Amino acid sequence: MAHTVDHSKHLIELASIDRERIVGLLKLARSYDDGAGMPRLDTALRSKLSGKNVCNLFFEDSTRTRVSFSLAAGNLGATVTNLTGAGSSVAKGESLIDTAVTVEAAGGHALIVRSGAPGAAQSIASHVGVPVINAGDGTHEHPTQSLLDVYALATALGGGREESFDLSGLTVGIVGDIASSRVARSDIAAMTKLGARVVCVGPVQMAPKSLGVLGCEVSSDLDGVIGELDAVQMLRIQFERHGSGGKKPSSPPGVGSVREYRSLYALTESRAERMKSGAVVMHPGPMNRGLEIDGVVSDGPRSLIRKQVSAGTLVRMAVLAELLGAD
Ligand code: CP
Repeated sequence: MAHTVDHSKHLIELASIDRERIVGLLKLARSYDDGAGMPRLDTALRSKLSGKNVCNLFFEDSTRTRVSFSLAAGNLGATVTNLTGAGSSVAKGESLIDTAVTVEAAGGHALIVRSGAPGAAQSIASHVGVPVINAGDGTHEHPTQSLLDVYALATALGGGREESFDLSGLTVGIVGDIASSRVARSDIAAMTKLGARVVCVGPVQMAPKSLGVLGCEVSSDLDGVIGELDAVQMLRIQFERHGSGGKKPSSPPGVGSVREYRSLYALTESRAERMKSGAVVMHPGPMNRGLEIDGVVSDGPRSLIRKQVSAGTLVRMAVLAELLGAD
């Protein structure tokens, strides 16, 4: 039977949690940082979650999130179990909720849930007694992605932001398929709570004006805003959510062709050169190189993309430690 979800015992979304908890998680992640962006693996840290069983329930594909949750749990001494849709009894028709209840009954102490269905993590949290962490639910939210985005951004910019995680005075652009993006929703929530001005940019079908209710500005003119940005988060076109079976359609929503999309919204080398001195480039991954971002930019000196991935392990360690009561 479903029960009310106490969000303090889970991490389902950033929209409904306060700035203080976000900063607390980021500071905890920083306490695990060896100074080079990797976990400081001392004996005390390695045994923090010993005896705990962390279960990855990934009903949608993932590389970064699943690997870094597994590494994060292992770094803290927890055991990790991985379940995917294919190869589990979900393939025989068992529901996600029955699957989660079963994994809890088998001894799972925390459930990391990825699903294509918005609200899946919240639904599961209303049926189990252990912490549930949303690892991405459809177009709703991807809270740990945004924690790692803020961590990587604040650390790269420095000047005290790496300690306070205060983003006041910064303008962050999020460019691309915002309407399909759970990352964008979580980034808007986290970054605006931390004081940043957030501008979402894309063709109107991907960046509708209605996004403004989330607290961001909306523009369809990347060239008009590129010079104002302190950071840009490039997003891929989520072909799998546009009914094209995951294949690149000849024309992305809202533009006449991929070529036109690139000319207006890709972070090409020449467009990146028009960014402010010191402005940084981000991408949550996976990237479509040569479409929304050029390889010379994603691999270039402004890029934080690898640092974002490394920060993922740190922030996921912090979330597991917080929710499993180790910090
Ligand atoms: N950013 C992100 O969620 O990547 P994965 O789909 O590889 O986990």
